[in-house]
Amino acid sequence: MRLSVIGCGYLGAVHAACMAKLGHEVVGIDVDGAKVAALSAGDAPFFEPGLPELLAEALETGRLRFSTDIADAAGSAVHFIAVGTPQKRAENGADLSHVYAGVDALLPHVNAGDVVVGKSTVPVGTARDLSVRISEACPSVTLAWNPEFLREGFAVKDTLEPDRLVYGLDDAASGAQLILDEVYAQALAGGTPRLVMDYETAELVKVSANAFLATKISFINAMAEVCEATGADVSMLADAIGHDARIGRKFLNAGLGFGGGCLPKDIRAFMARAGELGADQALTFLREVDSINMRRRARMVDLAREVCGGSLLGQRIAVLGLAFKPNSDDVRDSPALSVAAQLQLQGAAVTATDPQAVPNASRRFPDLAYTASVEEAVQNADAVLVLTEWEQYCALNPMDLRALVARPAIVDGRNCLDPVAWRDAGWTYRALGRPKAAAVPAPTAAVR
Ligand SMILES: NC(=O)c1ccc[n+]([C@@H]2O[C@H](COP(=O)([O-])OP(=O)(O)OC[C@H]3O[C@@H](n4cnc5c(N)ncnc54)[C@H](O)[C@@H]3O)[C@@H](O)[C@H]2O)c1
Repeated sequence: MRLSVIGCGYLGAVHAACMAKLGHEVVGIDVDGAKVAALSAGDAPFFEPGLPELLAEALETGRLRFSTDIADAAGSAVHFIAVGTPQKRAENGADLSHVYAGVDALLPHVNAGDVVVGKSTVPVGTARDLSVRISEACPSVTLAWNPEFLREGFAVKDTLEPDRLVYGLDDAASGAQLILDEVYAQALAGGTPRLVMDYETAELVKVSANAFLATKISFINAMAEVCEATGADVSMLADAIGHDARIGRKFLNAGLGFGGGCLPKDIRAFMARAGELGADQALTFLREVDSINMRRRARMVDLAREVCGGSLLGQRIAVLGLAFKPNSDDVRDSPALSVAAQLQLQGAAVTATDPQAVPNASRRFPDLAYTASVEEAVQNADAVLVLTEWEQYCALNPMDLRALVARPAIVDGRNCLDPVAWRDAGWTYRALGRPKAAAVPAPTAAVR
């Protein structure tokens, strides 16, 4: 099948390459000439495990190409809309200008029977509005809404083997469902559940899933705040409540909270849209979810100040991790980068490192000192902060590192280090939601 993908960022580039891998003939279109040139040369413009190999393989087959010219979408039967929907400046709502610009640019090049498929995350009501716009311009072209649930860091696997496929359709009899089934034939044959619904429900599935995940993270971070006030240990608490299958242990890691190009802006856009619909009371809890999340960043700065003896002025702080999560170079609304910048603004001399995100971080905050290696970052440091739980940081040897720092003090922003090992190696170890010193395990009650 011939497909076009409009917008080749984190979502679109992976989608285009994966669709080609599945045997489709794909053209990826983006307004960013540098991105198109890189993708055409087989260079992934961002870090995503498996994407460079997949790009090389798909380009080699001749089934994948990239272009800046929207006219190259002509001839494709399906047109995926994968452009960005960032937060509006100084407002909570989503900026839909890229979505409308992408669709408007596409329409002169579509043919009768084509299906336009929305993948971008949009406020509920957008698909219905777009479908009217499309049918007015091209009555024989239909719109489907097919939200994307991929996780950065696992994007290739999540696209090739999605855990579910959601089709938002205006009219199930329009033929769009059959066409989407053909696009996703391999996943469907492998047993991926396919849920067909109206536009509004499909749009809400995506934003409510993100709202739920954000709430789960902020719930455990709220418990971390209470643990800090009582001397309790949030990691033990999470392990214990996570054994309850109704709660589950996933997404229950207390730490610096969520960030990235999706969760923060999606919950804000959801609140803004609910307000427009007169349903704002239903989502006021998300304001608290957002506040809890942001308070973790402030708490991290406080802990850094504490281990530095009460003042950050002139303190040399090593920051390990800048990406909003491991296996990504994405620093959009990254809690790690935000803490690093705060420390610098409050007078610390920050040296930051990350396995992948240094180029993106240094573009956003050129005032920080960046280095490529942990060893250089921690040299003569007064405090070391772990802000992104990259595997290599979780595996750091406290003995080896101790020889390099000026003062062995570490703040674990992701609860990813073993406090016992670090304390035994002579470090002052502090973490979010955990006691200052090792908690004494309560005696197990005798079972009679
Ligand atoms: N990144 C993720 O993990 C993820 C997951 C699920 C859903 N989403 C959603 O997918 C959408 C895209 O997210 P992203 O992270 O890929 O964003 P991104 O900013 O990385 O990519 C968007 C791309 O669209 C391009 N673009 C903008 N206007 C265009 C136009 N008129 N024509 C062609 N290209 C245009 C931009 O140049 C950019 O390359 C967003 O709505 C996001 O919420 C993202």
